[in-house]
This record gives sequence, structure tokens and C-alpha cells, in this order.
Amino acid sequence: MINKIIHKQLNVIRQTNMPDYDREVAGFSWDAARALLGWFPDGKLNIAYEAIDRHLQNGNGGNVALRWIAKDGSRKDFTYRDLSEMSNRFANLLRSLGIKKGDRIYSLLGRVPELYTAALGTLKAGCVFCPMFSAFGPEPIKSRMEIGGANVLITTRKLYKRNVEAFRNDLPELKEILIIDGDGSDGGLRNLTALMAAAEEDFRIEAMAPEDTALLHFTSGTTGKPKGAVHVHEAVVAHHITGRIALDLRPDDIYWCTADPGWITGTSYGIIAPFTNGVTMIVDEAEFDVNRWYQILAEERVTVWYTAPTAIRMLMKAGSDLVKSRDLSHLRFMASVGEPLNPEAVIWSADTFGMPFHDNWWQTETGGIMIANYASVDVKPGSMGKPLPGIRAAIVEKSDNGVREITKPLGIGELALQAGWPSMMRGYLHEDERYRKCFSNGWYLSGDLAMRDSDGYFWFVGRSDDVIKSAGHLIGPFEVESALMEHAAVAEVAVIGIPDETAGEIVKAFVALKPGYVPGEDLRLDLIGHARKRLGPAVAPKDIAFRKNLPKTRSGKIMRRLLKARELGLPEGDISTLESDEQ
Ligand code: WT7
Repeated sequence: MINKIIHKQLNVIRQTNMPDYDREVAGFSWDAARALLGWFPDGKLNIAYEAIDRHLQNGNGGNVALRWIAKDGSRKDFTYRDLSEMSNRFANLLRSLGIKKGDRIYSLLGRVPELYTAALGTLKAGCVFCPMFSAFGPEPIKSRMEIGGANVLITTRKLYKRNVEAFRNDLPELKEILIIDGDGSDGGLRNLTALMAAAEEDFRIEAMAPEDTALLHFTSGTTGKPKGAVHVHEAVVAHHITGRIALDLRPDDIYWCTADPGWITGTSYGIIAPFTNGVTMIVDEAEFDVNRWYQILAEERVTVWYTAPTAIRMLMKAGSDLVKSRDLSHLRFMASVGEPLNPEAVIWSADTFGMPFHDNWWQTETGGIMIANYASVDVKPGSMGKPLPGIRAAIVEKSDNGVREITKPLGIGELALQAGWPSMMRGYLHEDERYRKCFSNGWYLSGDLAMRDSDGYFWFVGRSDDVIKSAGHLIGPFEVESALMEHAAVAEVAVIGIPDETAGEIVKAFVALKPGYVPGEDLRLDLIGHARKRLGPAVAPKDIAFRKNLPKTRSGKIMRRLLKARELGLPEGDISTLESDEQ
């Protein structure tokens, strides 16, 4: 733990949305947060109304909502009114295809404008939106579409051909595939652009009950298929207030969230919270590039920037001169999420940008930011910060009847949150048991290990499971293992995360071969190629090592933990259940 504290200056503190954290905590109520939004009669609401159309009613329809930067660098602005009309068209288009309230609309798209209008239009129509990451291969896509019972898919011709076509007929609930490019004359694909042009511009937004499902976000566990976390319309109450308090968003902000909507950060804070707070949001279609990113920050005069540790570490490597040679004077708040942010990176940013990255913590399951460093609060580099007003966080340990709180400062235990905030997941789709296991004595158990210091700051310690975090993306070892098991040469496989300076962790697989197969470079590359084809580059292992056997428990479970300890030269821990071992 680094003792250095980055103090906030009074002139900064005064101008923030939350000048006094302790006062906000003491006075906070979720009902007051609810009252910040628009609502329909009878306690109904709709996320898309709160995000877009509410601003039209308030006379702000002409403000730029979305500035899209294409890969080639060209820009396109969409006002709140534009997004209102386009999402209306999309909602009407769904109706014209016979799509009803509650149906599931999936996207498999890069960061293009259609993704944003589809998300908003889906919500307006009372349907459930499920964004998928465009770097997924057919396996993760198929399991997500199967579990959620996808009714409509919006994608491109290329992504469809490469990743969906082969299993299209295995999905009986999938009614329509809309592609944003081409005429779609073959294979029953429909042309989204033509349908949008033909659709009506007015739409009566569905008034939804607070508990109606709005979004489905998949996340990975240690075992089994991905889990579909269900989020409801009322989640917008948390998106809005956390955007305001944790990201300090205001209507005159130029805000850039670098996350892809295929992951929840890119939806909660890359669509909903920025729009409910009325900002101008930057979306860059291209992938990470140091010079491009600094150019966007400077040219677009970004004021609030929300990004992730892997990118920050890459910027750090590229050096401070690149920052100092540009005019970034309009930047006033920078935040980070998704993986541990090293204290060095926080100190580097404070020295280089004149303000630190503010680390915050949350999960797919929590729907929104739960623990954060705030614009008005001193930063302890390496700490995730303090709980959001309205959120009670604790460190707990298992006890005879459930869990009990560890109150001793710096005691390590599982990070838990008192259940009941608006953006909390309402279930894992079709997996009640897995969902129930997340709760004990009214606490939601995060699966992360953490500690709290005597000033109330929380510190991330590690995950309590085998799930891998690579470049901010959660990867379930079981999904990767299953894909490798399909290969004819593979007898056994175990997948772990290996620490990596830039990506946090990278995926590594240990493989035992079937008789008749010989380890070697050709086979290694073949296995990596197979995994990339099945899983996509975001999920596939970067490295594969061959073993004669893998360490297993007496019950036959492969001990990933032991493989990892050996790989890293760490103590092997309790190996009393070890039955067979590697050779
Ligand atoms: C897991 C959740 C972040 C929301 C979108 C990703 C890790 C998240 C931090 C942080 C250390 C972090 C945790 C968590 N994580 N933020 N500030 N410091 N670790 O959500 O994909 O569901 O991942 O990301 O392990 O449980 P997700």
C-alpha cells in the first residue's frame, strides 16, 4: 500500500456535483434519486425516455447527444432529437416485424450509430436489449443467443457469415436477422437501413413497470455456460445518480467512455448514464491507439473521460511527452474501471495530466458503480475508493449461519454489498440456484476479495474464483476449456490467467494430449488457431503449454489453482485433495 495521498483543492471540490461526500451519504435516499428522473403516470418509466426524450421535453433536443468518430476519422453528430427520431423508427420497425414487448433483441456490432439507436429503440418498444461484443467467435455468441432466447439479431453481413450463419437454424426462437449493410437478399437477412427509412418517426414509448426487464448482460463464471444477468428499467435511477456523483457528469460535458457496449460499462456508462445526464458523448469506432486517443481528447475537448487500466498502462508506456505536447486543458475528471489500477498509474496520471485517474469498482451484476473515488474526495493511489451514497459495502467472512462482517481495518474477506439498490441484477436467466448463492443474510457477495482501511477506503485484493480478467474482460476458464476439448488431439485441458504487465492477465491453457499426438509447435499453433476460430480473439488463449497429465483432486477435478501456483512459483497451498499429478 502506498501512503501517498492525492489531495483535492478547494476550488475543485466546490465545483463538483458532490462537494461533501459525508453529507451526501448522510442525506441520501433512493427516493430522492428517483425524483431526479421523468417518470410516467402510475409509477411507470422507460430508460430510453429518461435518456433521450426527456431532454426534448425540457427544450434541449437540439443539443448534441452523440458525436461518432468513424474509423477513417470522419465525424457525425446526432442531437437528442435525432436519436429520439431514429430510436422511434427502430421501435416502429420492430412492431412492423411483429416483435412484442418482452422479446429479446441482440446486437453483434462494432461501435456504430446503429448500435445506439437499436439499443434505445428496443427499450422504447419494451423489448429486452442484449449487446454482444463484436470480437466474439461463434461459441460465445451461440451460447448467449441460446440462453437468452434471442428473437432478433442486428449485425453486419460479415459478422453474420463468419459467426452466426452456421448455427442459425439451431435457434428456433430467432425470427429476424437485420443487417446494417447490403441488401440482404440471400438467406432471409433483412436490410436495416431500408426498414428504418420506411418506418414511422413517431412512437408512443412503452410505459414500463420499474421491475420489467430492460437489459441482459452476460458474464462468465468459473464453471458452466455464461450467466445472463437480468437488469430492469428502474436501474436507470442508479445509472443516473452514479453518473452524476461518481463521474461528475453535467449537461455541458464532452464525455468519452472508451468501453464497448458489448460489455456492461459500455451500456451503463456508454449509453444510459451519459444520456440521462444530458452530456455530449464521444464514440470512437476504432480500437485503441495512443496517438488517436490523445488526438480525440484534445480535438474534441473531452472534459470527462472514463477508461480502463489496460489502456492506461499502454498510455503510460508511450510516455508523458505525448500528453504534455497537447492542449488537454478542458479535461477535468478522469476515471477508470474493470481491473486493478496500479498505484503507479494513479501517481503517473496525477503528475502528467495534473489530475489522477479515479478508480472505481463494480460488476455486471451490480449494474452500476458501487465503490468509487470522487472528484471532491482525496485519492489514495491503489484504492478503489469509498461506497456510493446509498450503498452499504462491507468485508465479510463465512460463519456458521451465513456470513458475518469483518470490521477490523485491513482484515481481508469477501467484498459484499447490502442488497436492494435499483441497478442490482434481478436474476441469472434460468439459473435461480446460481443467483440465490450470491446472497447471504441480506448481503450480495461479489466473489472479490478486498479490505477496508480505517478511513473507509476499499482495497482490491483478488478474485475468490478462477475467473480471468484480461484487458478488462471477464473470461470463464470453462468456456475456453470446452472449446479446446473439441479439438481431436486434446484429452484434458485447464485454463488459467497469467499476470501480464499490460493486460492484467492473459489466458493460458495447459493441455494433455490423447495417445498418438505429439506435442510441438505445429500442434500448439493449430490449437491456438482452433480456439481463436471458435471463441474469437478476445477470449482465446494467448499461450498453450503441453503436459503429460494435469493435477487433479481425488474427485477428478483439475486443480487450476495448483497449476497457477506452479506457473508463478508461488506456494502450492493445501494439496491434501491432490490425487494425480502432472509429470
Ligand atoms: C470484476 C467485474 C467494472 C464493470 C464492468 C466489468 C473486477 C472491476 C475493478 C477495480 C479491481 C476490478 C472485479 C470484478 N474489477 N473493477 N476497480 N479494481 N478489480 O464488470 O466484467 O462483471 O467484472 O472486475 O474482479 O468482480 P465485470
